[in-house]
Amino acid sequence: MAPLRGLWLCLPLLCAELLASPHRCVFDEVQARVRVVRAARRARALSPGEVAPMRIGTWISGESQRLSEREEGPMRATVQRAVRTVAALLSVERASSPLLLRRDVNKYCRFLWKNPSTVNYNRCGRANSNYRHETCLDMKIPDDHLAGCEVHPQANAARRVTLRPPGSGVPDVDFLVYLQVQASDRCRAQPGLLAYAAHCQTDTSGRPLAGVVVICRDRLTRLTVQTVVHELFHALGFSKDLFPTWRDCFSASAACSPRGKVTHMDGTGQMRIYTPSVISALQRHLAAVDPELGGPLENSDAPPGGVSSHWESRLLQGSVMLASQPGATRIDPLTLAAFQDMGWYTVNTSRAQSLVWGEGEGALFGSTLTCADNSSSFFCTGSGLGCHHLHLRKGKCQTDPFLDGCRVYKAFEMGSECWKKENERKSSEERRGGELFGSDSRCFFSELTTLNQSAFIVTGRCYRHKCTGPNRYQVQVLGSDWVECPAGGSIQIRGYQGSVFCPDKRLCLDSDVSRPSEADDVFTTGLLDGTLLQDDTRSAHRPAADLPVATGVCLLALLGLLVVLGLASSRCSPCNIRIHAASGDV
Ligand SMILES: *[C@@H]1O[C@H](CO)[C@@H](O)[C@H](O)[C@H]1NC(C)=O
Ligand SMILES: *[C@@H]1O[C@H](CO)[C@@H](O)[C@H](O)[C@H]1NC(C)=O
Ligand SMILES: [Zn+2]
Repeated sequence: MAPLRGLWLCLPLLCAELLASPHRCVFDEVQARVRVVRAARRARALSPGEVAPMRIGTWISGESQRLSEREEGPMRATVQRAVRTVAALLSVERASSPLLLRRDVNKYCRFLWKNPSTVNYNRCGRANSNYRHETCLDMKIPDDHLAGCEVHPQANAARRVTLRPPGSGVPDVDFLVYLQVQASDRCRAQPGLLAYAAHCQTDTSGRPLAGVVVICRDRLTRLTVQTVVHELFHALGFSKDLFPTWRDCFSASAACSPRGKVTHMDGTGQMRIYTPSVISALQRHLAAVDPELGGPLENSDAPPGGVSSHWESRLLQGSVMLASQPGATRIDPLTLAAFQDMGWYTVNTSRAQSLVWGEGEGALFGSTLTCADNSSSFFCTGSGLGCHHLHLRKGKCQTDPFLDGCRVYKAFEMGSECWKKENERKSSEERRGGELFGSDSRCFFSELTTLNQSAFIVTGRCYRHKCTGPNRYQVQVLGSDWVECPAGGSIQIRGYQGSVFCPDKRLCLDSDVSRPSEADDVFTTGLLDGTLLQDDTRSAHRPAADLPVATGVCLLALLGLLVVLGLASSRCSPCNIRIHAASGDV
């Protein structure tokens, strides 16, 4: 009965991989559909020149789909954590009055008086009788959040007619997020999409004042804090539409000046953001002094020669601002430097998380010419198993459409975390490789085996580790003592054949990486424990989800697996079959 037990262990893993295509951001398409309204007057500052942590208000749209209590609680908690994370990073000059959004004159007005010598020059002359309300993307903005509007029927008379009275505004917020939970067409069209966002209003300096975040209804359980942070970052300024309005508020002593065009193509055809903090952050990160090191932008989600609102995936794996988010991401120094350079925010850069990817690798790191020549340990060739670069999880050498042909060890979605005791399957394969799972376990490239073999295969294995200093640690495998593992070297373990390779500058160096966080635990929520399925069948608004399809696929997979199992010899572990069958390149 051993193969069957293996089957039940592997089947959920297989299905999880099929269900969870990675989140791929559609921000630029969404933002292009929004008419952004700019404030007419500068809001009076509460205390001019003084900045305070940003207050981000969230307002859940009444058009959102009804959620069960079990869905709504976690959804709100996720959004609140994201909002608190962003608010702790950014400070702004607070306005003295409640936030009052502006109505779009192009919507409510048929024409403006155009004769400069008249009293009502540039004011609205006739109402548009079709005018109903203001929207942020597709969401109706409550009238109470909006300034009033009026019409001046004669060009030269003071008489005016109120079209809409002013609302009272939203007190104590510097940025307002409209939150919408929907099974929108956009969500339906893209099974991997978790959420998307846009900004809708800016102040006179160009700083976004309000935006919308739409969360895809049937993927709530996969929503992570980092996905919401990513979307908020777009809405707050990390947007190609806002790059041209970034301001220089540091070099000029009195006023800020427009930066003008901040994106340029470098000599290799790589589009980059050239602003002072971004350049110096990347130079520090790569330990290089090349002045051409602007922040690299993604080429795969921009038209040729165009600009993307994401960092280049090849060069900044793990950053929160990549177009495709495979899971745990870092709020990295480069992204925060970009916020610093927008000119609207004061950024607490001490809160940046180390990126690890590419650290100290020099100016040429990640070029498509060198990523396959084995010159950097961050890239791989072939499709073998190994370790994700943070070494918290096992990985498989893969590529994706954003990597321009380069290959990296990507964490597989379920069961890859070394730091989770429950991932231990106690299989003979695991025992032969000496694996140990638990909170202090990390992934190591290893050949260890208890079998007598003439050739060794390197793969990712989970072993316990213990820091003894910066970049210094000991390792323990099943049945062994603690053994010093010299960073960059390798060790043998008594009772085993082959070596364990000791990663350099990846373990016991960055305190914010060394501890697995809840954020690293993004793939384990819901989906497979049946909770969501139950809730969905009870819900009256059950959307045409991709869940039934996935279930079908999983049943097919089950059939396939049974066939494979029938054919396989008893020594063939079903979990190996899973890995080869399920993880195609995404
Ligand atoms: C920046 O964040 C750190 C914690 O990461 C905190 O100790 C410090 O007070 C913050 N600085 C400002 C100016 O808010
Ligand atoms: C890189 O290493 C792999 C595996 O060891 C090998 O197959 C490949 O030929 C190497 N590539 C280069 C360009 O050296
Ligand atoms: Zn995005």
